[in-house]
Amino acid sequence: MTDTRSTALPDIHRSDFPAGFLWGCSTSSYQIEGGVNEGGRGESIWDRFCATPGTIRDGSSGAVACDHYHRWPEDLDIARGLGANAYRFSIAWPRIFPRGRGAVPNAAGLDFYSRLVDGMLERGLQPWATLYHWDLPQALQDEGGWVARKTVDDFLAYTDAVTRHLGDRVKHWITHNEPWCTAFLGHQYGAHAPGLKDFRQAIQVCHHLLLSHGRAVPLIRANVKDAQVGITLSLHPIVPASASAADAAAVTRHDGLRNRWFLDPLHGRGYPADVLALLGSDVPQVQAGDMDAIATATDFLGINYYFPEEVADDPAGGAVRSRVVERHGVERTAFGWEVSPQGMVTLLDRVQRDYAPAQVYLTENGSTYDDVVLPDGRIEDAGRRSYLARHLEAAKTALAHGVPLKGYFAWSLLDNFEWAEGYVRRFGLTHVDYATQQRTLKASGHWYANFLKAGRP
Ligand code: FCB
Repeated sequence: MTDTRSTALPDIHRSDFPAGFLWGCSTSSYQIEGGVNEGGRGESIWDRFCATPGTIRDGSSGAVACDHYHRWPEDLDIARGLGANAYRFSIAWPRIFPRGRGAVPNAAGLDFYSRLVDGMLERGLQPWATLYHWDLPQALQDEGGWVARKTVDDFLAYTDAVTRHLGDRVKHWITHNEPWCTAFLGHQYGAHAPGLKDFRQAIQVCHHLLLSHGRAVPLIRANVKDAQVGITLSLHPIVPASASAADAAAVTRHDGLRNRWFLDPLHGRGYPADVLALLGSDVPQVQAGDMDAIATATDFLGINYYFPEEVADDPAGGAVRSRVVERHGVERTAFGWEVSPQGMVTLLDRVQRDYAPAQVYLTENGSTYDDVVLPDGRIEDAGRRSYLARHLEAAKTALAHGVPLKGYFAWSLLDNFEWAEGYVRRFGLTHVDYATQQRTLKASGHWYANFLKAGRP
């Protein structure tokens, strides 16, 4: 895809945002670390999934990825060089408990993250740790994984070990990244690890993820003085494919499973009744006290925003009878995801109107384009730069609407292993040459650095 939008940058400045606003980048463990057999790390469901033929578009895996396990000082230098004041990363559960659980956590795993956190603090980067960004220990999957209720207890034991060890320095904790993806991509569509295709199980996984989140909140608070705890959801504005009443009704149903299925229980409303009615015998098994635990108050809501979804009524479209259709004539990234900064404003306004979280962080937002390395080594990723600038403008608009937005984390610091897409998709502000592991800041990264430095308080 050719980038032709280099001239369309909005007039946006860091000084347009409140003092104390957090600026950062996001990454996740399996996507960047590599070193899968080092430091006593156990097998994760992504190691196993990648080893299954036909799962990953380019047949690759995260075995080496960005070799961040060894190169993290350089990577944190890049984040500091951008002028960021925060950095979001995730912890690989199989580095802490290689077989998922145990009497004693793996010291080498804890040490790795301890050094990483110290490296952030030395560089003025506030650490934001995600406990679960999809790399479940395979040993737990062998016992049923997130379909099994006891995995909730294993998550709590893992959370306890990590927060005890890092809680003196890490104050910001995200329990789960995008439970929708874990549940549905991993258990209904088979597109992500563990590669299952069972809608009923996916629904049960949602419940166990949410339950493990809710039960982790007080545990984290007990272990971490002045903790700020939240969860990150992938949320989408849902728009109708036509003006028909049938499509309007499909929007409500689709939104029910995509967004409200998570937002409602987290905000004390239980699972949405209209969606429960559509699920029939696939409703989740819920035990007494679960919904109260899930509704435990948090300090912030993390939102990952990428694109809106356009849906049509479709009687064959699963429990919520909807089908995602491709809106014609709209701007798209190389992934085919619609580019809609306005969609971000709509989404943030809606979340505020319907749920009023006290604090909101955009914990991911970014784009993939087919980057070209020029003969002189530069990467002129005008599309990504424009995407970034226009979404920051959207963030400013949402703030003006009264959304309590407190920070923005760009996805991603580095090109990395993009799950089922392998290394085909590059989301980084920094280009990674996977043959040499050389990092090169792209034009979008330079733009972000200039944006951040120009208005530095
Ligand atoms: C999100 C994931 C993140 C990355 C981006 C592109 O859904 O949280 O790991 O893959 O998409």
